Amino acid sequence: MKKILITGGAGFIGSHVVRRFVNTYSNYQIVNLDKLTYAGNLENLRDVEQAPSYKFVKGDIVDAEFINKLFTDENFDAVIHLAAESHVDRSIANPIEFVMTNVVGTVNLLNAARNSWKGDYDKKRFYHVSTDEVYGTLGEGTEMFTEQTAYDPHSPYSASKASSDHFVRAYHDTYGMDCVISNCSNNYGSFHFPEKLIPLSINNIKNNKPIPIYGKGENIRDWLWVEDHARAIDVIFHKAKTGSTYNIGGHNEWTNIDLIRTLCKVMDKKLGRPEGTSAQLITFVTDRAGHDLRYAIDATKLKNDLGWEPSLQFEEGLEKTVDWYLANEEWLNNVTSGNYQHYYEDQYQNR
Ligand code: NAD
Ligand code: DAU
Repeated sequence: MKKILITGGAGFIGSHVVRRFVNTYSNYQIVNLDKLTYAGNLENLRDVEQAPSYKFVKGDIVDAEFINKLFTDENFDAVIHLAAESHVDRSIANPIEFVMTNVVGTVNLLNAARNSWKGDYDKKRFYHVSTDEVYGTLGEGTEMFTEQTAYDPHSPYSASKASSDHFVRAYHDTYGMDCVISNCSNNYGSFHFPEKLIPLSINNIKNNKPIPIYGKGENIRDWLWVEDHARAIDVIFHKAKTGSTYNIGGHNEWTNIDLIRTLCKVMDKKLGRPEGTSAQLITFVTDRAGHDLRYAIDATKLKNDLGWEPSLQFEEGLEKTVDWYLANEEWLNNVTSGNYQHYYEDQYQNR
């Protein structure tokens, strides 16, 4: 019997990780700790919330006293840490929130784990889920990020994630804590909050609203289906050596404009609109400040060491994703009402 704390389990990737662990390992107890910010939604977990091995705890990782008490009460064997502020544009508008959650929150968890495990890391593990954005940006060539690429973050978000990665490594090197880190590329799929490029565009196309493309749309991202990420986390959690780092990616690079043109075609087909209708909504807007040009992940180490590879072709994954959003209108309407609307109206007026 293992008791695992999953942080940020009500968010996009976290909900897929919780679902996978609850459905795959009925002998584990899964505790999902989430503050339920605008990005966290318990509706993402309706299908597993009744499972006897699952428990939800509402709380803030920035609150050290609360976190220490939770570790004392629950006596966790392992942590899979996903809770974070995750949107680059919000980090540009409000960096301090990112320092608090992503840096201070991570160190609070490391401290609580250290106090709880008291130097005995046998069968204990702290798994930190991070991003490829810590590596900075690539040029237009064929170079990729490997686990040896030097950190060079540019946005407040990526700087906060880089800092948290350094703290996790420091706890491994200084205290001998069993820590592992993975750095993943851009995820897409169901339950993705519609402030990020793909779900925002799906929602806007559906509602006949402009699709904002930053700059000329020439920035390149490497897209991975979220369930493939959750499977990679499962494999790394169970098999990685202590102190190791793995890059996770889709070998699937797209310029933003090509991706959105492809999405527009899928949406025209699904909505029964004449081809070319949705593409008319593409609107070029002011570029993101400090916008990284290109991310590309070399996931060879993960394939060679642990046998993981992406399972889904992007075109198939994109269709599945569109189908999910069109079939889950209520979810989309719920998460796009209230504070979310106001945030976006203000942001676009200020551009
Ligand atoms: P998300 O924004 O969808 O979810 C984050 C979750 O964390 C939400 O449920 C939120 O309520 C919770 N949370 C935020 N602040 C908290 C706090 N102070 N205390 C407790 N809970 C809090 O994020 P996501 O896209 O699912 O990303 C999850 C993790 O994966 C993050 O660490 C992110 O950096 C990393 N990551 C994301 C991507 C991606 O493409 N989305 C890629 C690589 C890595
Ligand atoms: O690479 C992994 C990262 O991917 C994660 O660590 C982050 O948490 C996640 O948000 C994502 O970051 P990006 O900034 O790459 O994702 P986003 O969806 O915000 O933007 C993708 C690209 O699309 C980027 O080049 C900016 C651009 N963009 C984004 C939005 C929201 C637009 O052109 N228009 C938009 O409206």
